[in-house]
Amino acid sequence: MEKVQRISVIDLLKSKDYGKTVCVKGWVRTKRGNKNVIFIAVNDGSTLKNIQVVADVVKFDENLLKQITTGTSVCICGVLVESQGGGQAVEIHAETVKIYGTADETYPLQKKGHSMEFLREIAHLRPRTNTFGAIFRIRHNMAFAIHKYFHERGFFYFHTPIITASDCEGAGQMFQVTTLDLKNIKKTSDGDVDFSEDFYGKPASLTVSGQLEGELAATALGLIYTFGPTFRAENSNTPRHLSEFWMIEPEMAFYEIDDNMQLAEDFIKYCIRWALDNCTDDIKFLCDMFDKELIDRLNFVLANDFVRLKYSEGIKILEDAIANGHKFEFPVYWGTDLAAEHERFLVEQHFKRPVILTDYPKEIKSFYMKQNDDGKTVRAMDVLFPKIGEIIGGSQREEDFEKLKKRAVEMDIPDKDIWWYMDTRRYGTVPHSGFGLGFERLILFVTGMTNIRDVIPFPRTPKNIEF
Ligand code: 4AD
Ligand code: MG
Repeated sequence: MEKVQRISVIDLLKSKDYGKTVCVKGWVRTKRGNKNVIFIAVNDGSTLKNIQVVADVVKFDENLLKQITTGTSVCICGVLVESQGGGQAVEIHAETVKIYGTADETYPLQKKGHSMEFLREIAHLRPRTNTFGAIFRIRHNMAFAIHKYFHERGFFYFHTPIITASDCEGAGQMFQVTTLDLKNIKKTSDGDVDFSEDFYGKPASLTVSGQLEGELAATALGLIYTFGPTFRAENSNTPRHLSEFWMIEPEMAFYEIDDNMQLAEDFIKYCIRWALDNCTDDIKFLCDMFDKELIDRLNFVLANDFVRLKYSEGIKILEDAIANGHKFEFPVYWGTDLAAEHERFLVEQHFKRPVILTDYPKEIKSFYMKQNDDGKTVRAMDVLFPKIGEIIGGSQREEDFEKLKKRAVEMDIPDKDIWWYMDTRRYGTVPHSGFGLGFERLILFVTGMTNIRDVIPFPRTPKNIEF
């Protein structure tokens, strides 16, 4: 037989070239049959669906057919025919079968229905399951949609550093980066670590946000966004926290808080719409398998305006709920940071749709947020989502040099660390705003998964760095 070019399963299933010789390469999902004919389901990752291969037993070496088991990688060529059975449009009647690699009975993905916990332990193989194939195809599509959204609106993708000397969020949850010999640390005369010997000559860490550098870009290019890995050494073992995650941070010159909220709502709706339109099979699969309300929930978010609510009003609603007998684990009072249970109460029980909460107490927010005239609150905005809680955090930025400087001093941020950031306010300062979308939290929402460890290929959480 002449050399036939490989066709992906996704293209094969759309093909109507009946009678044509085609060639598929992939991994065997299932094999069944009888003494005359066997049916092999082959998946190549291009789509959730498998292509069915029909092989007449007489045409092949018995040993070869025996070696084909779940997990075996194969190259199968044959004639494309309209399928007789239900379930699929086309199938391949095999003429040649080549095995690249067998998979013996120790292959862990023999049976269907493994628990998500078990699959996390074999994260190196879980992309071969239907569930994780679907999740990672959706993840790709979301990344693509994000770049498309911003590109089409005149935003520039700006690359901010991964290794940094500044703690943007001021929460002190940074991973230190050092080339010092940990077994032999030199000290200065006052007993501190002598960082002058370190790679950068001073302490360095992995970034917790690209925002500060993003602002440098926005006050030059106008509209920018970053999209990169972000690191937080917070010891939170929750279904919504990773120590390495991806964040999208748009930053816009001349945007005030209302423009910022408008953009956040439009952007996130665009991403959800994109998923529904472009990942239809995968989302339907996850909906059927895990979360029957998924598609309804996605459509519901698209159809409804997000509520705009001030923090003080939110606290009042929560206090009223407590007065009416609702129990929360964590206390509610003006000045406290909201816990996920509070956020989800507002979204899921009170308003029953996404909420953008603004004007938080300045004490619980970062130094760079624009201060309101009341002297107590800042122009922060958090977008709160059903099932997720906070999906976006952002703010209008303080553009006034003196006010920003005063806040930095109050919060013990030394000028030597942020002098370059302060220069945006020293020279040609402008009102500007931005926000950060947690990429994995978006994927959680769009896939209906309930644990953030299941929407990133190789999750990083405390004490977990296998693979
Ligand atoms: O609210 P955060 O901390 O905001 C910032 O970092 C700002 N610099 C953003 C900006 O204004 N440019 O983080 C933004 C989002 C959160 O809303 C959440 O979705 C996600 O990042 N996030 C996490 N996702 C997974 N694991 C973690 N540990 C996360 N911490 C924050
Ligand atoms: Mg936040």
